[in-house]
Amino acid sequence: MRKKIVAGNWKMNKTYSEAVPLMYEIKDLLWKSKKAESVIKIIVPPYLYIHDFYETAKGLKNLFVGGQNCAYEESGAYTGEVSASMLKSVGANYIIIGHSERRSFFKETNAELKKKTDITLKQGLTPIFCIGETKEKREANEHFNVVETQISESLFHLSTEEFQKCVLAYEPVWAIGTGLTATSAQAQEMHHYIRSLIEKKYSKPVSDNISILYGGSCNEKNAAELFACPDVDGGLIGGAALKAKEFVEIIHSIPQ
Ligand code: PGA
Repeated sequence: MRKKIVAGNWKMNKTYSEAVPLMYEIKDLLWKSKKAESVIKIIVPPYLYIHDFYETAKGLKNLFVGGQNCAYEESGAYTGEVSASMLKSVGANYIIIGHSERRSFFKETNAELKKKTDITLKQGLTPIFCIGETKEKREANEHFNVVETQISESLFHLSTEEFQKCVLAYEPVWAIGTGLTATSAQAQEMHHYIRSLIEKKYSKPVSDNISILYGGSCNEKNAAELFACPDVDGGLIGGAALKAKEFVEIIHSIPQ
């Protein structure tokens, strides 16, 4: 059985005094929820809050914290950067790698993301590796090629053992923060395609076992339909992860 995962990417939102109560609100709702227990829930706040959130999350089944990014080097003179080992040392279990905002605003390349994935795995953490095409590429019918290149250039050097430790997130760039969601048919089509690439490169058991999340304007209203797709194993949530009730409703939308 593939792991069902809902991760909330807080991006660069919430000051400390706003973030702490929100984390408690989410935790309280999750305490009361039997339905959410079996789902892997990951809160991905700004780096500064990871340790506090890790302490808050302790004791609640399947609740983890993660980082939104990490440096591509292990340590050294890289002012302003945060390493995977530092994230691990404050309680992170997951790191989002290759979010489209990192790719577009910070010009992260597939080669850099390959290094970040390696470093994350080396620390024993799980990369949540993001892939997805822009609106222009979809309109030009190049979305499958884009996703194939992203995966093959950043992940297909991994051994089977390493690759199995990754989580993927398909996030069409045109759907992120825009209110435009991929239809469930579009999401299923791409997730199925991604699984076929993995099967070709590794094997059917590997492709059958890897969790592939959908992200891009996923909310409490559309989550159930997206999560019902056979190849969608949960979601990477942005805006809706900043509202406790909505986020927990999204977690409840994972089919039981
Ligand atoms: P969104 O963001 O849910 O606000 O569209 C998703 C993401 O960027 O991971």
